[in-house]
Amino acid sequence: MHLLFLTFWATLAPISQSISLWDPTGPYHVGYTQHVFNHTTPKDPTKPGNIMLLTIYYPTRQIPNITVPYLDPISASIFEKGGFPNGSLSTLTTKLQFQAATLLDTNPEFGNGTSPYPTIIFLPGTGLPARAYTAYQSELASYGYTVISIDHPGEAPFIQLPYGGEGIYTTLDLLTQTPPPEIARAVYDYRVSDVLAMINDPFLPSLIHTYGAPINTTHFGIFGHSIGGAAAAGVMAASDTKTASLFKVGGNLDGRFTQLLNQSLTGVNTSIPVSNLKRPFLELATETTLNGRKDGDITWEYFNAGQSEWWRALQIVGTEHLDFSDIPLWVERLGGRDEALGGSLGGADGVRTTHIVASIMRKVIGYMEGKGLKRVDEYTDKVPEAFRLGGNDGGRKIG
Ligand SMILES: *[C@@H]1O[C@H](CO)[C@@H](O)[C@H](O)[C@H]1NC(C)=O
Ligand SMILES: *[C@@H]1O[C@H](CO)[C@@H](O)[C@H](O)[C@H]1NC(C)=O
Ligand SMILES: *[C@@H]1O[C@H](CO)[C@@H](O)[C@H](O)[C@H]1NC(C)=O
Ligand SMILES: *[C@@H]1O[C@H](CO)[C@@H](O)[C@H](O)[C@H]1NC(C)=O
Ligand SMILES: *[C@@H]1O[C@H](CO)[C@@H](O)[C@H](O)[C@H]1NC(C)=O
Ligand SMILES: *[C@@H]1O[C@H](CO)[C@@H](O)[C@H](O)[C@H]1NC(C)=O
Ligand SMILES: *[C@@H]1O[C@H](CO)[C@@H](O)[C@H](O)[C@H]1NC(C)=O
Repeated sequence: MHLLFLTFWATLAPISQSISLWDPTGPYHVGYTQHVFNHTTPKDPTKPGNIMLLTIYYPTRQIPNITVPYLDPISASIFEKGGFPNGSLSTLTTKLQFQAATLLDTNPEFGNGTSPYPTIIFLPGTGLPARAYTAYQSELASYGYTVISIDHPGEAPFIQLPYGGEGIYTTLDLLTQTPPPEIARAVYDYRVSDVLAMINDPFLPSLIHTYGAPINTTHFGIFGHSIGGAAAAGVMAASDTKTASLFKVGGNLDGRFTQLLNQSLTGVNTSIPVSNLKRPFLELATETTLNGRKDGDITWEYFNAGQSEWWRALQIVGTEHLDFSDIPLWVERLGGRDEALGGSLGGADGVRTTHIVASIMRKVIGYMEGKGLKRVDEYTDKVPEAFRLGGNDGGRKIG
């Protein structure tokens, strides 16, 4: 599933005041920091292809007293060319606090490399920066979870490296056109390998040791949108089983399992065996999935049939592919929801969809803290927009 470029906001009025993208609802405020790591992947179609940018969102008790721009000015202007008025995306702000105090000093259960809250990895869709999922990431962080996302500079239209580093423009065009199969496959492959590299020495462990960061190093959840969701399953199934086993739950937000497709990425290749993750896995699909296919996606039925542990496939009524990102909030906050046609956003309310998706992820994450997965069904049964496509409770097929 490629991302259509944003061609549908021609008539919005100019905006001059600043507007909050998302106000996290949890008990904590949210801090963030960034780190650049050298890491080269084989057969990488991006340039320079030798660095990763980590953005880490985490809970803090420090109260924000300023707002900061949501997007860097260059990314904002690039995305505005998709149909927003000049300057409009630059008016979106967050209350994220750069390098705010962690909970280490105030809470005895937090330590150097420990936290009672599991760590979450979030992976973006093809061609989008991880920043385009700030609402989910800051929402989860406000409930205590440290959330780490990985940008692969050279893939998204523009990535500004921190600490006075360079700005990196893409040399690929992944947003306005469907990437050729070999590029899509390469993006999938480095999504997986970037995570595996990041979790291991010398990256995340040395970062934690250097700063004494209160980040849980034994319990990880991994979620992603589109190809990032496919890669979440790929990480959990990685041949580096020691690293893969750190991931106790995962989730795929409307991503086709690229790893199960044939060479032309149009059909399932049934000679590729499905990895049984043997851990809880969530799948969220758009509304058109129901109209198109009952099983969510050509690859989902094949993947799900191979799972022996808990999984749920849920459809969120009123959504389209890009509703599982910040983009419906951009449109909604800037007053242009009614213009949001064009196939990549559905009619759903962006704020409500963000609440629903983040709440479902939180219930799945809660499993790692000893809370039962029944809470997922208890929640989604009460959400009229959440329609269960299928599921399994570990041997017993339901739905
Ligand atoms: C990362 O690579 C750059 C050149 O590409 C080099 O200048 C820098 O020292 C490297 N950093 C580390 C930590 O290896
Ligand atoms: C805002 O909060 C930060 C961190 O607590 C503090 O250092 C700074 O002085 C505050 N600024 C104002 C204007 O209150
Ligand atoms: C936006 O700015 C660009 C130059 O930066 C200009 O070419 C374009 O016409 C402007 N568009 C609108 C709608 O003002
Ligand atoms: C990580 O979180 C889990 C679940 O809350 C907890 O059982 C475990 O002790 C934590 N691990 C570390 C290293 O903090
Ligand atoms: C964190 O713990 C490690 C040992 O696990 C230690 O080597 C390191 O110095 C500690 N870092 C800080 C900042 O306390
Ligand atoms: C299917 O997968 C097998 C095993 O990876 C591979 O050898 C074969 O070329 C694939 N066939 C197609 C049509 O993609
Ligand atoms: C991939 O699968 C589709 C649908 O089953 C089929 O039409 C196509 O020929 C396959 N491509 C290859 C290269 O096998």
